[in-house]
Amino acid sequence: LRWADPQRLATLYFNSAHREERQAPLWLSPCADPRHREIWAGPKDLCARLPSLLIVGPQKTGSTALHTFLSLHPQLLPSIKHPRTFEEVQFFTDPNYAKGLLHYYSYFNYTREFTVNFTVDPGARPIYFEKSANYFDQARVPGRVKALLPSARIVAILMDPAQRAYSWYQHQLAHGDPAATNYSFYQVITSDDAAPREVRQLRHRCLRPGRYANILKRWFRQYRPRSVYLVDGDQLRNSPAQTVHRLQRWLGLKPQVDYTQLLLYNKRKGFYCYRPVLSDLTVERRPRCLGKGKGRRYPAIDEASLAYLRTYYRHDNAQLYKLLRRHSYKPPGWLLALQNGG
Ligand code: A3P
Repeated sequence: LRWADPQRLATLYFNSAHREERQAPLWLSPCADPRHREIWAGPKDLCARLPSLLIVGPQKTGSTALHTFLSLHPQLLPSIKHPRTFEEVQFFTDPNYAKGLLHYYSYFNYTREFTVNFTVDPGARPIYFEKSANYFDQARVPGRVKALLPSARIVAILMDPAQRAYSWYQHQLAHGDPAATNYSFYQVITSDDAAPREVRQLRHRCLRPGRYANILKRWFRQYRPRSVYLVDGDQLRNSPAQTVHRLQRWLGLKPQVDYTQLLLYNKRKGFYCYRPVLSDLTVERRPRCLGKGKGRRYPAIDEASLAYLRTYYRHDNAQLYKLLRRHSYKPPGWLLALQNGG
């Protein structure tokens, strides 16, 4: 057995096989190997609490709705809300990633307010999960997730990328983003490199996450397709109970909750709302809808923008269709319609 002081060991580590980690660390799972579990000096329940299900987005596809609906299931335990920002965990993106494992663990280190005494299989264990919609298209994220959560299940939502881009623009407009306020959607998406920086940035955030094929390939390099579930964004919006039923079957959840009792269409909102499950496991009568930032009302996308985006995404969509077919996924309805010339 050879010994070196920690500093020398670190130098050896970063100078040899792990040069790429000099710029940015890569947190590996201390749970995969029993020897690592044994020498892990942190909280003993870390391995039981790290999430095994991630909703990765992308933004504006209904990720909050899916997260909220899944949180109604007794076997699925969501990350806690950030005490200050109430925002998503976003651990695998920078700068949070550098905060380390215990930071991530803190989002799952809680006691549920009520005992789950559903007729859950004695063997059924809680499944911790989180949703961070910006994971989807960040290049480094799939590798980071795989390193820490090698057997996680990944859920992504695919909706028409043109509509997704427009929804993001509307989101920024509602938040008073100067680029969205001063430039029309068409001006933003058709802007070139001569445009002001904030317009280019908005263009990027509108367009990039919708290039699904390239982005999914990055996930498939890390996870086999059988660990990646793709939700059709339109189905999630229009028939959420059926969508969540399929997902809970894929996850093998017990019990299989009847979501038709929990999700009700609200005419005023124009979207499905949910009936919260109370601490005594009864269901609240009055449905709650997602906040006013989800399911906004705005004019339909203009024809010129839609035509531009149809051309912009044509190749990506064709690639997506092939990719999904190759991996035996059923393409979402909007993609089938586009491929059939709709
Ligand atoms: P719009 O507000 O543009 O309509 P995310 O949570 O990923 O940011 O997605 C927000 C989008 O979720 C909304 O975009 C809305 O279309 C969609 N959505 C789907 N089901 C919803 C629901 N039940 N309630 C509210 N929004 C829903």
